Amino acid sequence: MIEVQHLSKRYGRVTAVDDISFKVERGEILGFLGPNGAGKTTTMRILTGYMPATEGKAIVAGFDVFEQPIEAKRRTGYLPETPPLYPDTSVIEYLGFVARIKGVPAAERKQRIQQVMERTRIADMANRLCGKLSKGYRQRVGLAQAIIHNPDVLILDEPTAGLDPKQIIETRELIKELAGNHTIILSTHILPEVSQTCQRVVIINKGHVVAIDTPDNLTARLRGSETMYVQVDSSGADASAALGRVPGVTRVAESERKDHHVSYEIDSERGRDVRRDLARTIVNSGWGLLELRPMRMSLEDIFLSLTTDETQTPAAAGDAPPPGTVAATDGAES
Ligand SMILES: Nc1ncnc2c1ncn2[C@@H]1O[C@H](COP(=O)(O)OP(=O)(O)O)[C@@H](O)[C@H]1O
Ligand SMILES: [Mg+2]
Repeated sequence: MIEVQHLSKRYGRVTAVDDISFKVERGEILGFLGPNGAGKTTTMRILTGYMPATEGKAIVAGFDVFEQPIEAKRRTGYLPETPPLYPDTSVIEYLGFVARIKGVPAAERKQRIQQVMERTRIADMANRLCGKLSKGYRQRVGLAQAIIHNPDVLILDEPTAGLDPKQIIETRELIKELAGNHTIILSTHILPEVSQTCQRVVIINKGHVVAIDTPDNLTARLRGSETMYVQVDSSGADASAALGRVPGVTRVAESERKDHHVSYEIDSERGRDVRRDLARTIVNSGWGLLELRPMRMSLEDIFLSLTTDETQTPAAAGDAPPPGTVAATDGAES
């Protein structure tokens, strides 16, 4: 449904997007994840025909966005970073205006506006001036204008940015509902966003694609070995030697000790489940098994490991913060 091939964009000497390629299948929600300055907005502006690429090709709903821009735009809904609302126009007037310029036939406009207002839950604000809407409602009116002509493809640039935690959850639900009828690319610099909303993630950093995969596969792929967290009450005895003798275990590291409660991080050969043998060893030694669980790499760890080796100097990206700050913005609702 969307195909991006070797796309690059240079602003003078700044390369904002550098040879990126990816595909989005029909009905899919693709997360476009990267720190500020990574090139997300630039890519989305190119896909929506707002500006040309320096190199490369983009196909949306079967139409080349450079060669057949009108056909491509007709099938695309775009929510820019700041929704383009007219402050002195009521919501319903504004949607009427957008429906007209997007070519919704006059006879269908009224019904279509009603439908999208219900869909995005803004019907109660129909007569409110756009300039008087809260941030959450502005964003929903932005979504309403993006879907008014029932496009195949939706391009949403940071749709939850600046919303409070309740609005973020509502917006996520709304996007998931829309996914049935539309193919969606949404950008975000917030990690939990993609695992909660998207089936697949493109991670970009400094204009380069650094990974494309499902959130689950990304997590699994970056786990070099399996690591278990084990907490034992060994009444003062050193359990590490016994745990190290369990078949398949490659490393035992004590991570914490409080009185008799000792925690270990235990690595094992990939694909080998050592949990039963660990538990048996502990119990047969007469110790207490207090906790035993796999340690999963969080999406945050993955993101850092994918983006840090290229980011030795945090200031190098100009306005981009060091990748570590990317994850810190969320947390309120996850
Ligand atoms: N109009 C522009 N002129 C010059 N540089 C720009 C312009 N727009 C964006 N950039 C630069 O391109 C890079 C990517 O920006 P952008 O696509 O907005 O990233 P993101 O949306 O991921 O934060 C940044 O380094 C930014 O400073
Ligand atoms: Mg942006």
